[in-house]
Amino acid sequence: MQTEPQETSRSHLNRSEMAQKSRLPAPYGVPVLAVLLLPCLVTGVELAINNSSDNQILSTKPGRDESLWCTVRNNSRAEELRWYRGDGTVNLKDGNKINTTNICILPVSKTDNGVSFTCKLVRNESIQISVTLDVQFPPLLTGEDPPPVEEKNDVKLTCNVNSNPQAEMVWYKDNSTLTLKKDHYQIYHTSEVFQLTIKKVEKSDNGTYTCEAKSVLGEMRKEFHLTVEDRKPVFPLEAIIAAIVVVLLTVIFGIVARREKIFKCFKKTKKTPSETAL
Ligand SMILES: *[C@@H]1O[C@H](CO)[C@@H](O)[C@H](O)[C@H]1NC(C)=O
Ligand SMILES: *[C@@H]1O[C@H](CO)[C@@H](O)[C@H](O)[C@H]1NC(C)=O
Ligand SMILES: *[C@@H]1O[C@H](CO)[C@@H](O)[C@H](O)[C@H]1NC(C)=O
Ligand SMILES: *[C@@H]1O[C@H](CO)[C@@H](O)[C@H](O)[C@H]1NC(C)=O
Ligand SMILES: *[C@@H]1O[C@H](CO)[C@@H](O)[C@H](O)[C@H]1NC(C)=O
Repeated sequence: MQTEPQETSRSHLNRSEMAQKSRLPAPYGVPVLAVLLLPCLVTGVELAINNSSDNQILSTKPGRDESLWCTVRNNSRAEELRWYRGDGTVNLKDGNKINTTNICILPVSKTDNGVSFTCKLVRNESIQISVTLDVQFPPLLTGEDPPPVEEKNDVKLTCNVNSNPQAEMVWYKDNSTLTLKKDHYQIYHTSEVFQLTIKKVEKSDNGTYTCEAKSVLGEMRKEFHLTVEDRKPVFPLEAIIAAIVVVLLTVIFGIVARREKIFKCFKKTKKTPSETAL
């Protein structure tokens, strides 16, 4: 079990802050005693998890069961305790609240990584102690083949990583290490993703790419298949516009030509009834 330096220093800070407060009123005479006694009553009580009064980091693995005992120390009366998982309270049975309380994590899962379990004094929640889980597991890689890509287009191979501790990552192409030509390949690397972008793919980029993760707990490889297709002939835009113009003009001329006929017909039919009327 390790001690988390940050958390520890914070709890020390709280204590030295309180010590400072009790020292401050010293020059002011009579009320000093009362002021001095009050913080002493509160600070006298302390909490411990499994007999340690420092905040801790608990290294563990998925599937394990962990139990934590929180105990109040130097208390003059019965003290109620409360557990938090992150910001949320943990429901405790009635017999598991006074002076000592225990929680079990059955079993630990990957999602518990980084989660803090904090035990607090109900009467004064600033008196608290916590254990942060460091759930360690070997690398797990996931990802999907990209859709076939045309020559000259860019393509992204996304290898999702889940690993604690962080894994060392490498890309291979057809089983040899990828030599990273700067303007052709780009790597994007976070704790969750290891992504290879290939700019303006060529036929020679077609093949199998392997994402590899190695940590002290193990290693894993994931293959990605990239299919590079011939560039489809692009339609010449001018030709299309020319064709549309020709078709439009033909249609317009057609309408104009027919319109004369229609007009003539219309005239004729209009004349006929007036003739009969005469
Ligand atoms: C609690 O009591 C023990 C012994 O009774 C003492 O050594 C320790 O300093 C006390 N702790 C606090 C925080 O007062
Ligand atoms: C704390 O220490 C005492 C004495 O060493 C031991 O009997 C007890 O089992 C310990 N408790 C926990 C929760 O480890
Ligand atoms: C805490 O103490 C209990 C009881 O002694 C023990 O079963 C448990 O494994 C301990 N937990 C850790 C994280 O050490
Ligand atoms: C809790 O501790 C206090 C102080 O030692 C004691 O008076 C009280 O009886 C304890 N209560 C329980 C339920 O253990
Ligand atoms: C392109 O790569 C795919 C996937 O690795 C492979 O199946 C295919 O045979 C390759 N095609 C050519 C022409 O190399």
